[in-house]
Amino acid sequence: MSDAPEITPEAVASAVDEALAAIAAAATTAELKSARSAHTGEQSSLAQLNAQMRNVAPEHKASFGKLVGQARGQVNQALAARESELAEAETAAQLEAERIDVTALPQRARVGARHPISLLQEQVSDIFVGMGWEIAEGPELEHEWFNFDALNFDVDHPARQMQDTFFVDPVARHLVLRTHTSPVQVRSMLERDLPIYVLCPGRVYRTDEFDATHLPVFTQFEGLVIDKNITMAHLKGTLDHAARVLFGPEAKTRFRANFFPFTEPSAELDLWHPTFKGGARWIEWGGCGMVNPNVLRAAGIDPEEYSGFAFGMGIERTLMFRSDVQDMRDMAEGDVRFSEQFGMVV
Ligand code: DAH
Repeated sequence: MSDAPEITPEAVASAVDEALAAIAAAATTAELKSARSAHTGEQSSLAQLNAQMRNVAPEHKASFGKLVGQARGQVNQALAARESELAEAETAAQLEAERIDVTALPQRARVGARHPISLLQEQVSDIFVGMGWEIAEGPELEHEWFNFDALNFDVDHPARQMQDTFFVDPVARHLVLRTHTSPVQVRSMLERDLPIYVLCPGRVYRTDEFDATHLPVFTQFEGLVIDKNITMAHLKGTLDHAARVLFGPEAKTRFRANFFPFTEPSAELDLWHPTFKGGARWIEWGGCGMVNPNVLRAAGIDPEEYSGFAFGMGIERTLMFRSDVQDMRDMAEGDVRFSEQFGMVV
């Protein structure tokens, strides 16, 4: 017991000072925990001073007891205060680290909308598939022969001019961006067995301006029927049916004589509807006619045995007066707000 500390006010004060300094220096609850065991645990100076109480003479017990008791109370109080201070700081730091800004915009993917041109193209296809027709396709980069020659265009027909048609380099390869879907007529006649009932929707290209009523890239649908005893009455009946499905039971069609190299006779197709913008009126919708015997021959079909009809319409134009779109450029720009107006059909 010789090295046991003696209880003196100085010894008690210095034990308290050391303890308070360690408590104040603890920067985390873990550091505070070790300060607690160092300064209040069994090995601590205060605990050892307290243990000395047994050796204190009875007349001093009360005053020494008070001295040590107050010292221990002071240290415990400092521990408790520092503990709640640190716990508060740690909670605040955690809250800060896990902060969620509830006013931030969520990163949700926007739901899109089908483009009205795709929708209309499918609706038109459905009308003809519903009558037992097939869908035929051809390349957009087309050989001049399919785009012009086989369709009975003269070598010097104005449509072949570079001003109207995108020729693809090198020009000697005779490749063009197809100017209409009519070359799919020829491809269908060469590839398919007779009789032929096909609808050919697709993209076409012309060196047109980009304005409210023209696009250099647009969409057409072409129809072709080759069978025995086909007449213009079949053509008219087919187009009337398509017009009524697309525009309602009041829609009417009429033919106006015209010229196309690949049909004979040829007609301009007009469409009438009571609610067109600007009132009940006729609007030019497309071209049509009876397949020219020269085209049948170019595709190896005997015009004495078979005849047929063909028609071609622009889908953008159809959408314009069906849905009252004022500016074709809206159809090319790809703004989802335009597409959304046509319904979220998936
Ligand atoms: N190919 C023509 C055009 O783009 C439209 C056309 C007219 C297609 C008469 C036809 C038709 O099938 O018979 O202007």
